[in-house]
Amino acid sequence: MKIIVANWKMNKVFDEVDEWLNDFFDAYSKNFDQLQDSEMIVCPPSILLDYVDSELMEEAFKNFEELAKVENKKIENFSEEELNQVLVEQRVLGLGAQDCHYEISGSFTGDISASMIRQVGCDYVILGHSDRRVGYSETNQIVRKKVEAAIKEKIIPIVCVGESKEVRGQGKHSDFVLNQLFESLPQHTEFAKLIVAYEPIWSIGTGVTPTEKEIYDMLRIIRTFFEKSSSSRAKELFLLYGGSITSQNSQEILSIDGVDGLLVGKASLDAKEFIKICL
Ligand code: PGA
Repeated sequence: MKIIVANWKMNKVFDEVDEWLNDFFDAYSKNFDQLQDSEMIVCPPSILLDYVDSELMEEAFKNFEELAKVENKKIENFSEEELNQVLVEQRVLGLGAQDCHYEISGSFTGDISASMIRQVGCDYVILGHSDRRVGYSETNQIVRKKVEAAIKEKIIPIVCVGESKEVRGQGKHSDFVLNQLFESLPQHTEFAKLIVAYEPIWSIGTGVTPTEKEIYDMLRIIRTFFEKSSSSRAKELFLLYGGSITSQNSQEILSIDGVDGLLVGKASLDAKEFIKICL
């Protein structure tokens, strides 16, 4: 199973979302068999989360109706609980937020909490993306508190780590990323499921990707961190690579030993391109 995450960042308005979802469902049905091994997650801006959630539910209901017809079952015979369960299973796209605050509520103008994103249907949240670490001075300690808040709400964190060009130039990238991991994850925690995305800052939005060896080495270091760590463990751990992914380089990067998936920025804005990356 590979995990492919679409990070829309601050892009798209409602009619563009409709277009994206139509293209996505169309391409999904055409490539149904090949996509069975891919878990796909979309992370829209927070203002669009509720809308995307309801669209995904509607699509799931359509699938369910067809299935019920084929299996000769009557929808009215399903209990509300059964129906909810079936609809969740029929959702072909997971929903994630791009960030959340670490407090439940309070005087934090412009922020949204983990419980708020849970209520609009999010199962995932991206935390510690370099856009936020760099642009909003988010420290490892802040990221850690956000991870704790997400876990409390049973939201799966997608924790981003990655070094700048300068740090790599100094040859300190391994220590830097290990320290980010150590400080950004709560201690003495066993995560039911944890996704870590290695995104070197020098590769994000630049068209430059690391060599296969550079990706392999860093993911190996990250995996060893979890194998050896006595404080942060994950029952299910997925290591993603992110930075300048396109349908041209995705297969090559996915084939690197240790890569469990991809975090896709710009190329995910086009649903057809995103599906190509997921194949
Ligand atoms: P990019 O962004 O694919 O546009 O490089 C990746 C990211 O920032 O997650």
